[in-house]
Amino acid sequence: MLKRLRCSLTKRLDRFWLACDLPKNPGRLFVSDASFWRPERKSESGWIGHAPFAFWLIATHQPRTVVELGTHTGYSFLCFCQAIKKLGYGATSAAIDTWKGDEHAGIYDDNVLEDLRSYHDARYGGFSTLIESTFDNALHRFADGSIDLLHIDGQHFYEDVRHDFQTWRRKLSDRAIVLFHDTDVRDREFGVFRLWSEVVRDARAP
Ligand SMILES: C[S@@+](CC[C@H](N)C(=O)[O-])C[C@H]1O[C@@H](n2cnc3c(N)ncnc32)[C@H](O)[C@@H]1O
Repeated sequence: MLKRLRCSLTKRLDRFWLACDLPKNPGRLFVSDASFWRPERKSESGWIGHAPFAFWLIATHQPRTVVELGTHTGYSFLCFCQAIKKLGYGATSAAIDTWKGDEHAGIYDDNVLEDLRSYHDARYGGFSTLIESTFDNALHRFADGSIDLLHIDGQHFYEDVRHDFQTWRRKLSDRAIVLFHDTDVRDREFGVFRLWSEVVRDARAP
């Protein structure tokens, strides 16, 4: 069944590429076999639809050091960990959060971290760490130029996400990818879209 679905999806992608007159390159559509893996742990999260992308990204980019700023119940981070373990290529990962919540995620209690820790440490403790800290206070734990994949998903006001990007930037390796969550949300004073437009503008500047 899954095989048939995959086959039909691949055929549709082929037709899409032909129609677009673009070189056939599934990587550009962010789809590979890894996209069809299922998240082993589900929790409430704004990230819920992104598991196929997370799996594809880890399988394609194979980041040696993965850092997440903002983890909460761990949906996105556990997707990264699941893929790293399954692929077994020898990466390390770290999630940083106060596990207290913020204005956008809401304030929550200690059970969230306890629950996540018992799930995470048993499966991924060999290569992955949960760091209970503010983002700023955890900076010294990572060498400059060492992070291959940085996921920024802390508080979503413009000043916060800008600060997080600016302070962690020097930690990025020369092959790093940075993910920002909620780049297209315009309500609740989210400001990631504003930072994102600046990043794109700067990247396109001659
Ligand atoms: C949007 S949630 C993370 C969602 C998560 N990535 C997921 O997959 O569902 C944001 C988290 O960032 C944390 N946070 C926000 N600002 C922080 C800061 N400066 N230092 C540490 N944690 C912070 C909050 O405690 C909250 O748990």
